[in-house]
Amino acid sequence: MDDRILDEDRQNQEEQVEMSLRPEFLSQYIGQKTLKDNLKVFIEAAKIRGEALDHVILHGPPGLGKTTLSNIIANEMGVNIRTTSGPAVERAGDLAAILSSLETGDVLFIDEIHRLPRAVEEILYSAMEDFFLDVVIGKGEEARSIRIDLPPFTLVGATTRFGSLSAPLRDRFGVQLRLEYYDVDSLMTIVNRTAEIFEVSIDPDSTVELARRSRGTPRIANRLLRRVRDFSIVKEEPSITLETTDHALKVLEVDPSGLDPVDHKIMNTIIHTYGGGPVGLETVAVSIGEEVVTLLDVYEPYLIQQGFLERTQRGRRATAKSYEYFKDDTQPDTSRNGE
Ligand SMILES: Nc1ncnc2c1ncn2[C@@H]1O[C@H](COP(=O)(O)OP(=O)(O)OP(=O)(O)O)[C@@H](O)[C@H]1O
Ligand SMILES: [Mg+2]
Repeated sequence: MDDRILDEDRQNQEEQVEMSLRPEFLSQYIGQKTLKDNLKVFIEAAKIRGEALDHVILHGPPGLGKTTLSNIIANEMGVNIRTTSGPAVERAGDLAAILSSLETGDVLFIDEIHRLPRAVEEILYSAMEDFFLDVVIGKGEEARSIRIDLPPFTLVGATTRFGSLSAPLRDRFGVQLRLEYYDVDSLMTIVNRTAEIFEVSIDPDSTVELARRSRGTPRIANRLLRRVRDFSIVKEEPSITLETTDHALKVLEVDPSGLDPVDHKIMNTIIHTYGGGPVGLETVAVSIGEEVVTLLDVYEPYLIQQGFLERTQRGRRATAKSYEYFKDDTQPDTSRNGE
């Protein structure tokens, strides 16, 4: 997620808090009903057959619970989980070592699987399909290929960019699950659950407000709750009030729809600088001094889901709803780009 305002220590600390908030079993996993219902059946069936669960790909925007789900899958199957990520696996040999250390039924979780180097990805094909590895040992004329059999295992991949997966890799996942943004009710349940874990009392109207302004994202809901709690503690409130919640969110620059200053910059650039579009996302990224991938993964999906932004053949376009919503924003001052 976009955590640039935080220094590294703070970020590690946040990651630890996040770990402590992760539900461990499906029954504790809030929302995502369709996904959960399906997954439950696949897990049940695999257990009845006494086989490893089919390979699973989890895709969707950051902070919606992909890593959480991968751990839940291992817990529900009653197996061990090994965790790595696309950019962490540099050579085919690294992945071969991990794969050959797996035990029957284990889960191998590869986060950001769209970032696996191509050569590494290729050794996954036979591993996923037929549970063996072809490893080349030696060099030049001495080189020969040996076959290593693997125990049946479950590969769980997570990605924010399903479209970037190569077709051969994508097709080898028998179970493809897309995470959706959470509705307000689910986020309220998540906020209340987190408040309980933190042993802090929160007024019901504050819970609603936080849920509404969390971009449909549990990670953001939990993070905003922690910040709002800070303001409430300083005010020595017995329970987090709506007034404090509103004040804190204002200071944190989270608007009534949960949009932040970058969302505003994006929309104002499209509306004012580019006459509402269509305009390429790369052009918008350059104009506001953000990385294209951040816009693609973090910002655009929510703006589209909320009906502010449209994707057309010729680029991104502002919707009528966004003209209305952003009409009181000041025009972007291009002389201060990148601030
Ligand atoms: N369904 C849920 N119920 C309760 N809490 C959830 C749920 N989904 C996610 N969370 C909380 O949100 C936080 C973020 O979830 P997680 O790390 O699994 O997201 P992610 O999809 O892996 O994000 P990224 O793409 O950035 O890796 C976790 O701390 C977890 O506690
Ligand atoms: Mg994750």
